[in-house]
Amino acid sequence: MFYKINTYGCQMNVHESERIAKSLEKLGYTLANDDNYDIIVFNTCCIRDTAEQKILGHIGKLKKIKKSNPKLIIAIVGCMTGQAGKAEELLKKYPFIDIVLGANNLEELEYAILNLQTRHKKTILTPNDEKPEIIENIEYSRTSMPNAWVNIMYGCNNFCTYCIVPFVRGRERSRQPQAIISECESLIKEGYKEITLLGQNVNSYGNDLDDENINFANLLESLAQIPGDHRIRFMTSHPKDLNEKVIDIIAKYDTLCKNIHLPIQSGSNKILKDMNRHYTRENYLEIVKKIREKMPLCGITTDIMVGFPGESEEDFNDTLDIVRQVKFSGAFTYIYSPRKGTKASLMEQIPYEIKSKRIQKLIKEQNQITKSLSKSYEGNVYRVLVEDTKEEGNLCGRTDCGRLVTFSGSSELVGTFKNILITKSQSASLFGRITEEK
Ligand code: SAH
Ligand code: SF4
Ligand code: F3S
Repeated sequence: MFYKINTYGCQMNVHESERIAKSLEKLGYTLANDDNYDIIVFNTCCIRDTAEQKILGHIGKLKKIKKSNPKLIIAIVGCMTGQAGKAEELLKKYPFIDIVLGANNLEELEYAILNLQTRHKKTILTPNDEKPEIIENIEYSRTSMPNAWVNIMYGCNNFCTYCIVPFVRGRERSRQPQAIISECESLIKEGYKEITLLGQNVNSYGNDLDDENINFANLLESLAQIPGDHRIRFMTSHPKDLNEKVIDIIAKYDTLCKNIHLPIQSGSNKILKDMNRHYTRENYLEIVKKIREKMPLCGITTDIMVGFPGESEEDFNDTLDIVRQVKFSGAFTYIYSPRKGTKASLMEQIPYEIKSKRIQKLIKEQNQITKSLSKSYEGNVYRVLVEDTKEEGNLCGRTDCGRLVTFSGSSELVGTFKNILITKSQSASLFGRITEEK
């Protein structure tokens, strides 16, 4: 019996697909390496309409396949299914779906499959429980050696007015620090070299637990002190909650990567207010200044959205301006997409042509910055974790500050740290060679 998982969306989903894989393997399925599979799971995303349309297109294609193989099990899980009325809509449009589970119901997958196999019963479960219990000792089938993901918290409380995540993932729930520390210790013992802590807003870690000693700074410090040759990253930081203590801890420990993903969304104070982000461009610039004072080489990356309702040309220019000022080492740029049920979807929308022009302008601006930053890496040596092999004897890995580098070497080096001299850059790509220099 073979399984296939189609994963969409963010790292959180990529990690949760490792959990889904484990559930399927426990039931006796193995990963399919071609189009011969007995079960297919869609781990979905609904952050933007484009994400949803892509998934719906893929589900639609299964109609024919299910007709020729009625025993094929089709499960749709994850964020998309948690939207109000979505499960019903999916089943109406694609009656051949067997299982629907929300992002907070993944533990039901094994039971749902057994229920289908033994009693021919479909399971449709997407209760948006405000605060579902945290389940510990979840097993994952990890395939990303030497990198591992570790969830430190679930859900989100921020209700940015454009965002669907709090609706489909429920309220913020933090794991107990001891559980996170033990999980990281075991991963390091197993040989993982880089751990990425995951949460929608890692800086509010612990706010929901009744103990003032449980906070992100303390968690990071405990993790940084685990002995061994490894490093730790985390995402995502919310500018309203990233405090000086966290910056100090990152600066203090070599095991903590000097790399902060700090989504700004917009450079206009009016738009930030309408987005319910709780910081101003001045606050943001202040944080960037503090980070750079303490860690001059820290890579700061961001997410930026254009075309939020009410965004004037002036607001957009404020965004361009802050992009020029900060010089992000990378930026994910998005066109605002109205999400049903969110506040911003009820505001007056901006025509698509304007959004499209703005994003092109923004991308052009950021590309120039990325290109000139890339040039500044040339001639320097960086410690890189070798992560993967690429074609033609090439390897790739990431610097501490998060930049991807390609260099030649044999595949046995995957999972080791190497010093790399950057010899060439091409827009966002860096190329180098292994060196003994430091
Ligand atoms: N929790 C993270 C981000 C999660 S979503 C944070 O707070 O930053 C990842 C990114 O998708 C967001 O940073 C935002 O830039 C983008 N995004 C979220 N909702 C969107 C929407 N409705 N339209 C377009 N982009 C959106
Ligand atoms: Fe969405 Fe805002 Fe929560 Fe991030 S912090 S997941 S953007 S509501
Ligand atoms: Fe992630 Fe998409 Fe859900 S971005 S949290 S998978 S809506």
